[in-house]
Amino acid sequence: MAIHPIWSHYPEIEDELATSYAVIEKKVRIRNKEVEQVIFDLLYSGGKLLRPAYFILFSRFGDSDLKKTTQLTHAAASLEVLHMATLIHDDIIDDSPTRRGIETVQSKYGKDIAVYTGDFLFAVYFGLLAETTNSVSTIRLNAFVMRRILLGELDQMHLRYNTDITLRQYLRNITGKTAQLFSLSCLQGAQMGKADLKTITSSQHIGHNIGIAFQILDDILDYKQDSISLKKPVLEDMKQGVYSLPLILALRGHKKNFTPYLSKGQDMSDDDIQQVAHLVKKYNGIEEAQNLAERYTNKALTAIQQLPERPERDLLYDLTERLLNRKH
Ligand code: IPE
Ligand code: IPE
Ligand code: MG
Ligand code: MG
Repeated sequence: MAIHPIWSHYPEIEDELATSYAVIEKKVRIRNKEVEQVIFDLLYSGGKLLRPAYFILFSRFGDSDLKKTTQLTHAAASLEVLHMATLIHDDIIDDSPTRRGIETVQSKYGKDIAVYTGDFLFAVYFGLLAETTNSVSTIRLNAFVMRRILLGELDQMHLRYNTDITLRQYLRNITGKTAQLFSLSCLQGAQMGKADLKTITSSQHIGHNIGIAFQILDDILDYKQDSISLKKPVLEDMKQGVYSLPLILALRGHKKNFTPYLSKGQDMSDDDIQQVAHLVKKYNGIEEAQNLAERYTNKALTAIQQLPERPERDLLYDLTERLLNRKH
């Protein structure tokens, strides 16, 4: 099965990504054909493989030649499997009907199967990780990141329907639920590739800033696109009380204009949601969110420019720039 077409622009890592993809295919074969099929459906639905790609690129900044080794492809695969598990569980929590243009696991097979499938993938992730490292500190790092992803989701849940949510709280939530995994991917790449200390430190910072910009852009697309082109529902979060950056910024100084709609909570109609979306645009929520995304993008790009001079540095720059100008 071919991987996402974005990688045809990056032949230098396409092979390794394809191998990592094949590793996942192999590791998820199980007797329970229902769960197996569910995972294959998700796997073949065209994920962008961003986290393994950042991992692979950062692994090339050091002395150890990991190119095409099993250690490299298994570690890359583990990151994507962790991502897949969190997506399946995220769709349960968000009660989301579609992802990547197809019906979600939770919608098609029910929440029970979706919980088990996500859990199974966490087990596959640990298994892959164990095959790639003896380092207790790597295991500790991965456990820490999993914990932060969960805490990000929990904090987000705790703040639902809160119109006083601050920028700082939002940034903390998305640091957990999204940026940590990007940061881990970059850091683990630099560490396994035995990069110098400066690159290792920088990789974590770059991954964090990419992750924050990426999630802000994802939240902006919710307001700018329709669900067909985005291949997942739009503005679902608002009804569930998850207020993302464009709304948080538009609420500043204009809260009373939003209250008639937001105060309905779960009972907001489609029309109410459209009204809020309109107000978000009117009070520049999208523009201001875009400015903030740009600041994080620039932080990442500036730090990438300061990495040691290697072909991978230019690849990283190009990929990050392309990604953070994305439309889907
Ligand atoms: C989706 O991530 C979840 C967010 C962090 C916004 P991706 O956009 O990387 O998901 P896929 O794997 O390519 O579908
Ligand atoms: C992203 O959360 C999922 C994780 C990082 C676990 P969202 O709920 O904001 O993302 P989408 O829009 O469903 O991909
Ligand atoms: Mg969510
Ligand atoms: Mg979601």
